[in-house]
Amino acid sequence: MPALSMPAGFDFTDPALWGTRNPVQEFAALRRSAPVWWNAQTDEQSGGFRDGGYWVVTKHEDIKEISRKPELFSSQQKGSVIRLPGEVTLEQIELTGALLLNMDPPKHTKIRRIISKGFTPRAVEGLRNALTERAVAIVHAAKKEGGGDFVEQIACELPLQAIAELIGVPQEDRRQLFDWSNQMLNYDDPEYADTTTTTTSNNAFVEVLSYAWNMAEQRRAIPVDDIVSQLVHADIDGDALGSDEFGFFVILLAVAGNETTRNAITHGMKAFVDNPEQWELFKQQRPRTAPDEIIRWASPVTVFQRTATEDTELGGQLIRKGQRVGLFYSSANFDEDAFDRPFEFDILRDPNPHLAFGGTGAHFCVGANLARLEIELMFNALADAMPNLSQIAEPERLSSGWINGIKHWHVRYD
Ligand code: HEM
Repeated sequence: MPALSMPAGFDFTDPALWGTRNPVQEFAALRRSAPVWWNAQTDEQSGGFRDGGYWVVTKHEDIKEISRKPELFSSQQKGSVIRLPGEVTLEQIELTGALLLNMDPPKHTKIRRIISKGFTPRAVEGLRNALTERAVAIVHAAKKEGGGDFVEQIACELPLQAIAELIGVPQEDRRQLFDWSNQMLNYDDPEYADTTTTTTSNNAFVEVLSYAWNMAEQRRAIPVDDIVSQLVHADIDGDALGSDEFGFFVILLAVAGNETTRNAITHGMKAFVDNPEQWELFKQQRPRTAPDEIIRWASPVTVFQRTATEDTELGGQLIRKGQRVGLFYSSANFDEDAFDRPFEFDILRDPNPHLAFGGTGAHFCVGANLARLEIELMFNALADAMPNLSQIAEPERLSSGWINGIKHWHVRYD
């Protein structure tokens, strides 16, 4: 295989790179000639990890294989998030092991089983009526403005309302949850740099934790018919989440379920604006395949990482014990070996084996069905109320090493 050279200092998790563009060409070059490629990093680039860099894994097949072997590729050792604020220490990274996303079996298996109770198809379908009303209300409120920032007026609302609905956060506290969630995530973007330091990010973390801890304690004392009561009270196997475990679960929801779905909605609407024939098709047929194509196209999580627990071989490369591998979902979802015409946005695509929710392993997104429902409802509401939505300016991208985000997108609704 020919050696592949990238410009010196090139880093696939550089927030400034993602703030400008998705490195589509570079991913394609890696898939062709170096599917598992060492991305060297300086200590400064690697944030808290200071371990020389990570492997960039770009092929659909390889990402699936890694995701299915948690004993060989740990989520716990260095966590799943590949890019953290520079000043974070390894000890702080270890603390994030309290999040489901960063656990290995057997702990992961146990906590995941309890949490899954809140996300059964029945529990998710149970939210349909309430979320339909909310989606319609969001779109109608925005329409009255005539135009504006699609992200703020439309895309960000339902994901947060859905989580609040799911865990029963009262209406008056929802804005607070939204602010906390932004503060925890946007540490790499200069627009938020003044307001989002590591301190504010940590404060937000602590505030959500104590808010959720109180919720859990209240439900433990007086159970009601909701998911919090269900999670904190022992099931038939005697398993339940402790109040602190519930707190970390809410943090994960506020992070994992919020920004991801918001970006899927924005990227999806942008794809429709760029492909008007697909928008016409959607308005007429509302195909059941549309949400997954929107999610593939958006690939809202660019990458999560694993750490090798022993020396192993992958894609012809020797991965050393302790080295990190980056699972670049945003490359896998455009892998020519897994998709016909990957660069065409095709809402009738079927099958659609995208990896935007992860590589189908133990950590596969627990909120996938909720995300699909939210996207279905938002696009139905948009197609009904804003069939002629148009763009005023190109979207402004978020500078983040692992989220494919859009901060602002100015549009007209009529
Ligand atoms: C389009 C929207 C979404 C995308 C693209 C997405 C993506 C992902 C990905 C890539 C993973 C990790 C998979 C892995 O490591 O193998 C994940 C895990 C997770 N997601 Fe999502 N997610 C979305 C929406 C949601 C929603 C709406 C929720 C909940 C309200 C949610 C909750 C979670 C949780 C709790 C995990 C951790 C699961 C575990 O570690 O066992 N996600 N998600």
